[in-house]
Amino acid sequence: ARVHDIAVVAGDGIGREVVPAAVRCLDLAAARHGFSFAWTEYDWGSDHYRRHGAMMPPDGLDRLHAHDAIFLGAVGAPDIPDTETLWGLLIPIRRRFSQYVNLRPVRTLPGVPSPVRGAETMDLVIVRENVEGEYSEVGGRIYRGEPAEAAIQEAVFTRTGITRVAAFAAELAAGRHGLVTSVTKSNGIVHTMPFWDEVVEQTLAGRAGVRLEKILVDAMAAKLVLAPTAFDVIVASNLFGDILSDLAGAIAGSIGVAPSANLNPERDHPSMFEPVHGSAPDIAGKGAANPVGQLWAGAMMLDHLGEPAAAADVVAAFEAVLADGVRTPDLGGTSGTAEFTDAVARHLGEAPPR
Ligand code: NAD
Ligand code: IPM
Ligand code: MN
Repeated sequence: ARVHDIAVVAGDGIGREVVPAAVRCLDLAAARHGFSFAWTEYDWGSDHYRRHGAMMPPDGLDRLHAHDAIFLGAVGAPDIPDTETLWGLLIPIRRRFSQYVNLRPVRTLPGVPSPVRGAETMDLVIVRENVEGEYSEVGGRIYRGEPAEAAIQEAVFTRTGITRVAAFAAELAAGRHGLVTSVTKSNGIVHTMPFWDEVVEQTLAGRAGVRLEKILVDAMAAKLVLAPTAFDVIVASNLFGDILSDLAGAIAGSIGVAPSANLNPERDHPSMFEPVHGSAPDIAGKGAANPVGQLWAGAMMLDHLGEPAAAADVVAAFEAVLADGVRTPDLGGTSGTAEFTDAVARHLGEAPPR
């Protein structure tokens, strides 16, 4: 029988709550479709940092490399600088494994009210550049104690980096509604972004069935709220794609429902699946976290592993539970993570407790 070998890093905060919930449901989906998971749990994150001064062991990335995929919760703790937690785990994984596409579908879910009028049929995918751009490692430092203190970080956009993410977006759009919306600040103010436009235009030129639309990120923020159904595939730089994904998630009802796939499209390295949200220290330990983003990320992992039927089952299960009115507090409901997860597990065939 098929076995998928997955590295699990629950990480911090609500990651430790939503990851076990999702693993339980993914196991149920696997059983229904004749395959199984071999999960290897890595207890890496802020506790590891407190004990060892590092988010993961020195050979952490090599160990992850041996798996078919990585299932991540979130990292980040209020008492540790984010520079340590993020550059110590999340960002190195994305970079070492060349996960240059961060794929973030957002759509309105059954029974989940949007805070925005007219969002009922919103269905878009953000293709976020995931390894360069504004998140570059070039020049990133704070100049302390100079006559004038300053902080400088270079934005780095390479032709290769833009071309491959734009090509991915175009291919995705060709199988959807054919519209690629490229989001920049390319009115010459941010000097790197006219180059982004140029390379995106060249990449998409002559592609059958794909239309390119360009919009400035400030106008985009407004248009997403005013016309959330006007989009199909959105392609954006690392920073802009990050910001737009929380905005779009909130329009769908809560960032707690938004999934993300950090893809290495060439498949020479493992890809990583995680929710869009972070460790949510404000609700961690309360049993109130919405597990939908993690479950949906799990479904994206199933698709990536060649298990589309199981993926569809997982999505159908959490959609049915939401449609039944079972919702966590971020969606205006009164159910906790456990109650919501129990209901999803029932839909996936778990026997009720006796
Ligand atoms: P966050 O996404 O953790 O939380 C923002 C708000 O959304 C909070 O009010 C939180 O309670 C709510 N929220 C998030 N996920 C939810 C869920 N599943 N269910 C219900 N409510 C949810 O963002 P933040 O507070 O800015 O960041 C907290 C920490 O997480 C920081 O250390 C940050 O660096 C880190 N972070 C990590 C990742 C990641 O690991 N990929 C992503 C984003 C933020
Ligand atoms: C995300 C997060 C990360 C990002 C942070 C925590 C570095 O916000 O995955 O969306 O900006 O990529
Ligand atoms: Mn983010």
